[in-house]
Amino acid sequence: MSRTFLVAGNWKMNTLPEEAESLVRGVISVAEAANVNVAIIPPFVYLFDAVRSVQGSSVAVGAQNCHYEKKGAFTGEISAEMLAAAGCRYTLAGHSERRLYFGESDEIVVKKTLAILDAGMTVIACVGETLNERQAGNALKVVERQVDAIVSKIDKDAFANVAIAYEPVWAIGTGLAATPEQAQEVHKFIRTILTTAAPDTHIPILYGGSVTDANATELFAQPDIDGALVGGASLKADVFGRIIAAADKASS
Ligand code: PGA
Repeated sequence: MSRTFLVAGNWKMNTLPEEAESLVRGVISVAEAANVNVAIIPPFVYLFDAVRSVQGSSVAVGAQNCHYEKKGAFTGEISAEMLAAAGCRYTLAGHSERRLYFGESDEIVVKKTLAILDAGMTVIACVGETLNERQAGNALKVVERQVDAIVSKIDKDAFANVAIAYEPVWAIGTGLAATPEQAQEVHKFIRTILTTAAPDTHIPILYGGSVTDANATELFAQPDIDGALVGGASLKADVFGRIIAAADKASS
């Protein structure tokens, strides 16, 4: 089974319109030469413009969140169907910031995952332990619970549209990335769960948490790291471009 790298830039709640526009243009130009899947994940308000801008390029657009219902009286929410109709190819589910600040449980993450798949997009489902959980020796147990909750509910046919992002919470936005060995240990563990659930599909497992152009090469050299979900370092096209180039090199 072939390994296709995916590098996705999660902009979170950053950029004003002009910055967003120039960042999209920058990413398109740095992604051009690379033979990997590249996605930008801007705030909702920029999605239409971003989709229009990436047309004819190799860059895809994703969304950071969605509601799990198709439509209805949910003020302030956006459905997966709307995102797909707007041209999004990816949507995140279960980012630790959503779990932590917006109370998203495993159950909600599963509902969102199914809504995203149902709408025909690829889900990037995020999992990862907190520092306390790691220090208590429970990292693998927590990740197992989170991954199991998701994969146990997915239809066999839908696994082709699933990516998992392992993002240790203690590494997100802290500048303290997991070492390649720490990441590989968890990725390998996730791989065994995924291989049991979907033996015929190679599900990409991305690493996220303080990925930069300085550590990407080492991380991508690990056998079970198939790309990255990048936060802070995706806000600079040149830095993001070097991460894409590292993935390109690792995959060739
Ligand atoms: P970071 O964020 O790269 O800024 O650590 C990663 C993420 O939250 O997806």
